[in-house]
Amino acid sequence: MQITPLAPSCGVEITGVQLADAAGATLEAVRQAIYAHGVALLRGQVLSPEEHIAFAQRWGGIDINDYFPLTEEHPEIAVVRKREDQQTNIGGGWHTDHSYDQVPAMGSILVARVLPPAGGDTLFAHMGAAYDSLPDDLKAEIEGLEAFHTADHIYASDGVYAQTDMGGDLRGQGMTTGATHPVAIRHPVTGRRLLYVNPAFTVNIVWRSRADSRPLLDRLFAAAMDPAHQCRVAWEPGSVAIWDNRTSWHYAMNDYQGHAREMHRITLSGEALAA
Ligand code: SIN
Repeated sequence: MQITPLAPSCGVEITGVQLADAAGATLEAVRQAIYAHGVALLRGQVLSPEEHIAFAQRWGGIDINDYFPLTEEHPEIAVVRKREDQQTNIGGGWHTDHSYDQVPAMGSILVARVLPPAGGDTLFAHMGAAYDSLPDDLKAEIEGLEAFHTADHIYASDGVYAQTDMGGDLRGQGMTTGATHPVAIRHPVTGRRLLYVNPAFTVNIVWRSRADSRPLLDRLFAAAMDPAHQCRVAWEPGSVAIWDNRTSWHYAMNDYQGHAREMHRITLSGEALAA
């Protein structure tokens, strides 16, 4: 197995591994690379839906996404699909999956199934690099703070997606979500400090109104969005990306209007987060 960086602060490409067979020490090495670098890209994968599920089960538990369409045959697999006639995509803004859950998902395994002729890349940003880059006074200011995360303004029947041509494809419009997490967490395995707020789902600092929380959240988001913390996954048939939601944010580019894109995502269970 070879592990090479995708960018100086974020992401790796792993070669010499077929995920359909990965287990034991190989799986452990893949796991540790993702915990440390936020995301791993593996190209040339031959992974049927059944092998996708079996690999996720070898990794650990599977969280079923409450909003994305599921395939009838494989309810473990969420379909991230944009048809050629749709304008809106799923995940087209910086976010961390499931941060609105009190026990947020560890990460995801995303398999490319249908790709546009060009575009449709996914950007990732490393939240350890983002935390390290904060000035000392800002690090001190967020120490001990918690933030509130929800998905209601995105997925509810009066939320962002409902106003778009993606709204009819999503489920869970009647759900209510909410969770609090430390603004800076410690990675449960590596111990690295990570910024754990994101522009999609983090709406306020605990004990502050949404309006009063904005200046601090905006400073943190601006620091995290520095391209120096980012890497970019350009998909090809056979590409699979696996990411850690604690270590990274991601952003699905929506630059392929008039073309279809379909990805299969399995969300991996995580654990409660602490500072
Ligand atoms: C997601 O946000 O999970 C989807 C990412 C992608 O489609 O590239």
